[in-house]
Amino acid sequence: MVAPVRADPSATAAVRVEGLVKRFGATVALAGVDLEVAQGTVFGLLGPNGAGKTTLVRVLATLLEPDAGRAEVFGRDVVNEAVAVRELLGLTGQFAAVDEILSGRENLLMFGRLFGLPRHEARRRAAALLERFDLADAADRPAKTYSGGMRRRLDLASSLLTRPRILFLDEPTTGLDPRSRNEIWAIVRELVGEGTTLLLTTQYLEEADQLAEQIVVIDHGRVIAQGTGNELKDRVGGQILEVQLTSATQRERAQAVLAEVGCGDPEPGQRSDQLTLPAPRDGLELIEDAAAHLRRAGISVSDLGLRRPTLDDVFLQLTGAPPSEDGAGSKPPAAPQPKRDADGRSAIVRRHRPVLRLRAPSSQKLSAAVTDAWVVTARNLRHFIRQPQLLIFSTIQPVMFVLLFVYVFGGAVRGSLPRGVTYVDFLLPGILVQSVAFRATQTAIGLAEDLERGVVDRFRSMPMTRSAVLLGRTLADLVRNVLILVLMIVIGYLIGFSFHGGALQAIACVAVVAAFGFALSWIFAFVALTVRGAEAAQAAGFVAIFPLVFASSVFVPVGSMPGWLRTFAEASPVTLTADAARSYALSHGVPGSLGEMAAWIGGLLVLFIPLCVWRYRRMS
Ligand SMILES: Nc1ncnc2c1ncn2[C@@H]1O[C@H](COP(=O)(O)OP(=O)(O)OP(=O)(O)O)[C@@H](O)[C@H]1O
Ligand SMILES: [Mg+2]
Repeated sequence: MVAPVRADPSATAAVRVEGLVKRFGATVALAGVDLEVAQGTVFGLLGPNGAGKTTLVRVLATLLEPDAGRAEVFGRDVVNEAVAVRELLGLTGQFAAVDEILSGRENLLMFGRLFGLPRHEARRRAAALLERFDLADAADRPAKTYSGGMRRRLDLASSLLTRPRILFLDEPTTGLDPRSRNEIWAIVRELVGEGTTLLLTTQYLEEADQLAEQIVVIDHGRVIAQGTGNELKDRVGGQILEVQLTSATQRERAQAVLAEVGCGDPEPGQRSDQLTLPAPRDGLELIEDAAAHLRRAGISVSDLGLRRPTLDDVFLQLTGAPPSEDGAGSKPPAAPQPKRDADGRSAIVRRHRPVLRLRAPSSQKLSAAVTDAWVVTARNLRHFIRQPQLLIFSTIQPVMFVLLFVYVFGGAVRGSLPRGVTYVDFLLPGILVQSVAFRATQTAIGLAEDLERGVVDRFRSMPMTRSAVLLGRTLADLVRNVLILVLMIVIGYLIGFSFHGGALQAIACVAVVAAFGFALSWIFAFVALTVRGAEAAQAAGFVAIFPLVFASSVFVPVGSMPGWLRTFAEASPVTLTADAARSYALSHGVPGSLGEMAAWIGGLLVLFIPLCVWRYRRMS
């Protein structure tokens, strides 16, 4: 077997992949892939839908662990040295992973901070990138108002905040119009001119041919061919005569006529009025012969010419099938050609830039973790502020409960209340607990949305503290809960509720309820990481929360319940929290249920924080 030729054997390859296997259940996404990407080059990974391109990129970007084989990025193992690998790479995934609620500038600032840039440096880089990617005018608009091309550019800019040594671009131009596609192509060429190594996946065969020095064609998780665009085309051999008929109805007759020219079988082209014919002999002579045959048969032609095989032809040759089931083989429009030297390689002059060093040594790990958690918390709080309707609905629902219970059930419940306690005084602390319990599903929904939109993938591909994503989510929900609790108390005062024990007791009441909500947030984060999908997470959340809240002392004293239910309700952490909150609200002392409640909250946190972090790390 002949070893693959390397540009410079002494240099570490930017990417080296050996025998890589990845399965998803019965699906084999990667079935033993070997490849090598030389530093400072553009490498094209070409394949139809489901070939395994995204899976390979995700393994290289440390988002997925392979089942077998190994992969290195600049000599660092993507599994065992994932943290170091994340420092070197930039990832622009298949679907733009930008935060829709934040503006373009805020997105870049957030990612810059999470990359470990100091605030002023993040600002400077963000402004420069917005300018470079033609987004300066839209910089302060929410990203949800951006067009597809603008989102893609913002996504790409987010990957370049730290000048990665290698950039993975997963189908960077799919779905873009010709102009946006040209812009992305121009950026790719600029980047490689600056010394960045690029690995790009594409279904556009012409795109790989235009941009990449080396191309690997994969199908069903296997490499089926590799080489330069020209080498791959040479495998099909010679040239191709392409005939464009004036009318598609004449295609069958034209096929028969051209078969007589003696150059093999004419093949139907991509369009119904096209035919192609291999051209193994002198092209001009073949054109003359073909034209004469067609003219004699009275077949009119709108175009007749020779062309080099495209990579579509290569794909047809290699797999016996067109490259994809959704027309992905169609060629993107021509873009300005890069300058090529005699070997067909890109002749852009390369300047090697230093990589921006990010994270400080591990002595400063803790401060980096705090910064990361704060940046993510601030981002989630911004979402909350920008969507005031969420705050309104979050408050209306418990208010409805208060009014319904006070005025509908209040009369019936009064008899079972402790002496001298009004129903509104009894109910409000319970409603506070109910509102944080129901709100906890929002933690699951928010996280599930981030997962669905690819924002979490971006976070996970960055050299940031991994638990910060989860901590940022639960902390923001804690802040939001406290705000909602205060609002609820204000409304409670309007309908006759009052704290009997003074300000400190009131603060303690809010604190125990908020602490319980914080513990629940972690349970729901775990739900989101496990069930996947915002709707599923919400549904799963309600199934658990509804019986817990109703079978508790939130709305009525548990003494009025049947014995079997009372046993359950008395032991429930919802009851313990409601009782503690009620005791703080209505008396002057420390609640009797405080110890048990604190044990529950502590236990839930001790169990679910590590579970969430474990799940987050092992996500696929
Ligand atoms: N998380 C997953 N769970 C289950 N199957 C998966 C998962 N990710 C990928 N697959 C499967 O693995 C195979 C390869 O998928 P992959 O996304 O890598 O293909 P692709 O080449 O990127 O395709 P496309 O061009 O459509 O993006 C497909 O059959 C896909 O259904
Ligand atoms: Mg893909």
